[in-house]
Amino acid sequence: KISTASGTRNKTAPLLHGLFFEDINHSGDGGLYAELIRNRAFQGSDVTLGQKKGFSGDRIIDSENKEVPWGPTLTAWKSIGGALLSLDTLNPLSDALGTVLRVDIPTDATGEVGILNEGWWGMDVQVQPYDASFFIKPSQPLYNKKVTKINLSLRSALNNDTFATQSIAIDKPLSTYNYTQFSTVITPNKAAPNSNNTFAITFDAAEAKGNTFFISLVSLFPPTYKGRKNGLRKDLAEHLAAMKPKFLRFPGGNNMEGLSIDTRWQWKKTIGPLINRPGRPADWSYYNSDGLGFLEYLEWCEDMEIEPLLTIYAGYSLDLTNKQPANTVPKDELQFYIDEAIEQLEYAMGDVNTPWGAIRAAHGHPKPFNIKYVEIGNEDWFSDSYYWRFPAFLDALKKVHPNITYIASQATESSPANRNTTIPPGAMWDLHHYETPQFFKDRFNFFDNWQEISGYKGVQIFVGEYSVLSRDRVGGVDWSNSEGRFKYPTMVAAIGEAIFALAMERNPGVVTLSSYAPLFQNFNGYQWTPDFIGFTADPNATVLSTSYYQQQMFSLYHGAETLPVQNTVGDFNPVWWHASISTDNRIWIKLINAADKAAPVTLQLDKKISRVNGTILGHEDEYGFNYIGNATAISPKKFTLDAKKAVKGQSLQYSVPGTSIVVLEIV
Ligand code: AHR
Repeated sequence: KISTASGTRNKTAPLLHGLFFEDINHSGDGGLYAELIRNRAFQGSDVTLGQKKGFSGDRIIDSENKEVPWGPTLTAWKSIGGALLSLDTLNPLSDALGTVLRVDIPTDATGEVGILNEGWWGMDVQVQPYDASFFIKPSQPLYNKKVTKINLSLRSALNNDTFATQSIAIDKPLSTYNYTQFSTVITPNKAAPNSNNTFAITFDAAEAKGNTFFISLVSLFPPTYKGRKNGLRKDLAEHLAAMKPKFLRFPGGNNMEGLSIDTRWQWKKTIGPLINRPGRPADWSYYNSDGLGFLEYLEWCEDMEIEPLLTIYAGYSLDLTNKQPANTVPKDELQFYIDEAIEQLEYAMGDVNTPWGAIRAAHGHPKPFNIKYVEIGNEDWFSDSYYWRFPAFLDALKKVHPNITYIASQATESSPANRNTTIPPGAMWDLHHYETPQFFKDRFNFFDNWQEISGYKGVQIFVGEYSVLSRDRVGGVDWSNSEGRFKYPTMVAAIGEAIFALAMERNPGVVTLSSYAPLFQNFNGYQWTPDFIGFTADPNATVLSTSYYQQQMFSLYHGAETLPVQNTVGDFNPVWWHASISTDNRIWIKLINAADKAAPVTLQLDKKISRVNGTILGHEDEYGFNYIGNATAISPKKFTLDAKKAVKGQSLQYSVPGTSIVVLEIV
């Protein structure tokens, strides 16, 4: 039974379905950040040698079991025509970018000579303008000044096909003291048939032989989402926008915390010209360029018209292997990090008359952003110090920004048990759940009366990370990368997540924000499965998962008010459901059938039903999933119910297919 009487409805949580992004699985560098050049400034690359599994990613460990710092590499760079490539630290490009590429051109070189970049496991080449740029400096005593042009090209890695070439004329000898930056637009005259392509910078050997060049910050951008300079990969961003998300939590996750205090995500090092961004050895086995920096995250929110939800560093870095408690900032040093967070908010929200607001304006964004949600730390249940760090941050931030809603990343310390963090009314609590389908099915009622039962009166919930991680099995979720853990989100995963999302939707007074995690997986380099969207360099090979489609359906059909529903026969299991109504009076009934057989239901409304349209996500195999080559195997299908057969006045007969998620739209 569904009541539409106006007095019985509740407002839904308008921002319930959102996004959580951190650079994991090459979701940023090599993913959503549109830069096509991999290892563009020799900051450091993936960890490839001597890997040892740590808690949160891999570390390089030497023979004495000591951690080795991640150094710059030549990853993704290759020589053309016998040029000798090496790394150089004597000719830094900037204070931030200390290592550059040294290119020695042999005296006996002939024909074409230079370098190429393989991109992030290839690059997509279309007939569209690409912004190309690089810094170059010849070596002083060797420079023969005969070089009159530098050639840029986009070419196949498989054969001699070239899709674009462009020459940059060198009108006067290059400076041997300072780097010269060249920028140009290069437009292919034909599209490449696949993404196995490279970007080359070459010289005519007759002119360049015997020279040595230092090169760095080589950049190539295709048109980006909403045309932002240094922006987002268009196709991937459009998949996110198509979900109509309401907020973005960033920049982590573990990747915000860092593997040590020094390698935490330091917002000040992620802003301004790229030449000033050093990047960092991040949490997920690869260096971050930080090209996707604090301002770019905020602009992403602006471009998608979604609320920024900022996680700030709260004095705790995640390295459970051997450094505890060394990775907790000592109490008497915490103020520095609190001040850093206050400055961070000023950079985002201050007007141009504030010191940091003026810097943001100088970076091209005079208009202040409005941040309404700030999360203090991430998953601090791993720490034993949140009970004093959280109030210190909260009190100080509230004084400057009383209107922000603050989110605690932990409430009950695992040890010692008596050190509970107090979350005051008005603040929120971020819960993370990586679970089995059964865990979520069992929690349809989890948030009902949650505040009363838990004692957290006035505290609302943000489910900041959730997903079905493994099959149901004895012993619960399977964290190992063995049989139980899903490689891709499956149909049964989407069903579990949908039931949990219903649990949230029916409690809008308790759960106001939620986001799936992790968001992206580059199929060529990743650390975590299952993930929401899988991709490669080829936009046609992107895989939107069952979980993606489930969340998209929930986000698109999220009414403005909940409608009270009453189960008159039996229990919810195996069909779970919930109803809401849009501002233009469309009734959306979400029905989830977790059984493999169809389940007939009768829906009784208190008003006449004239039309019923539906959207269904379903599959006969609960372990079915979408994958490259079969990316839409499980995707939403629209249908219309024959009202003459299905509807009798105010009542509707419908058989919910087995293993499916359905939204019925009733008008
Ligand atoms: O989503 C992957 C990781 O899971 C996040 O970085 C962390 O917050 C959680 O443990």
